[in-house]
Amino acid sequence: MAGHSWDRVPIDAQSIEAPLSRAAVFLVVEVVDGDAALGSVRAALGGIDDLIKTVGFRDLDARLSCIVAIGSALWDRLGFPARPAELRPFSPIQGTAHDAPSTPGDLLFHIRAERVDLCFELERLLLDTLGEAVRVIDETSGFRYFDARDLLGFVDGTANPAGQDIPQAALVGDEDRAFAGGSYVVTQKYLHDLAAWKVIGADRQEKIIGRTKVDNIELDDDAAARKSHKSLATIVDAQGAEHDILRDNMPFGSPGRREFGTYFIGYSRRLWVIEKMLERMFVGEPAGAYDQLLDFSTARTGTTFFAPSRSTLARLADGA
Ligand code: HEM
Repeated sequence: MAGHSWDRVPIDAQSIEAPLSRAAVFLVVEVVDGDAALGSVRAALGGIDDLIKTVGFRDLDARLSCIVAIGSALWDRLGFPARPAELRPFSPIQGTAHDAPSTPGDLLFHIRAERVDLCFELERLLLDTLGEAVRVIDETSGFRYFDARDLLGFVDGTANPAGQDIPQAALVGDEDRAFAGGSYVVTQKYLHDLAAWKVIGADRQEKIIGRTKVDNIELDDDAAARKSHKSLATIVDAQGAEHDILRDNMPFGSPGRREFGTYFIGYSRRLWVIEKMLERMFVGEPAGAYDQLLDFSTARTGTTFFAPSRSTLARLADGA
């Protein structure tokens, strides 16, 4: 968006711009009742930077990072004097054929590194620090699959904003100054029916995704009756401006358990943009013409968080 004054906003964002890694852990926890638990959470939030250094320094080339994001209910419990303008719980969607459930989560830790063991170690030490204060709701270990493909075989992440376009898409700016540098985060854990996906063949798969499979070329489906995933996930506002988000989806799974999934994670400057994408995917555009990716992908979780800037995170930790 031309003329936007993003560069005047003091930015001390968490490591949201970290590039796609080889490994990631998505850890979602619930904070148990009581002030003691809140005290432990504050201590863990205050110590997270040191913990990342402690583990990350053992192999700097592995670029360990961890983003902490906070759910709407915990935000209130932490007693911060203000709230990010759009922070609200994930709103479940009942689509024509498929549903997007809303599931609990007070804290999300998005851990990334080039090495699985660094992710593991950071998570282990983090959960030691949090102790009895939290209950683990979900823990998913993701991995890079060849040239950043999802388990459906398509390159995932191509249309992401890059470089200096990232803040514009993913970080709150002037519109909510107290929370500038923060980011809304939505996660959904999807399980795929790979056998059914295989049966339909590459030609139909490409029409569903909106890109070719081998060489990842975008397909024009403006005239198609049924829009592809990439077109349903393209959001243009009433002024004609397109709104991007930053995704860092990761495959996960266990062939032995016949479990094949995609962990969707989207960072956005505006929560409504991700909500709109979900509505277009599940309800359809026009209504009923839902995203056919969902015929092969079932959303098992759905949770919304806010990843505050580093300075806001420090204030939350202090209880100030
Ligand atoms: C089963 C889960 C999902 C899979 C496997 C998946 C896969 C893909 C693939 C292969 C592409 C095309 C390449 C690219 O640009 O990345 C894509 C594009 C995209 N997806 Fe997804 N996706 C999933 C869920 C979602 C969800 C839940 C959202 C948003 C709420 C989303 C938002 C987007 C966006 C914004 C694009 C780029 C559209 C453009 O070309 O501008 N995706 N996705």
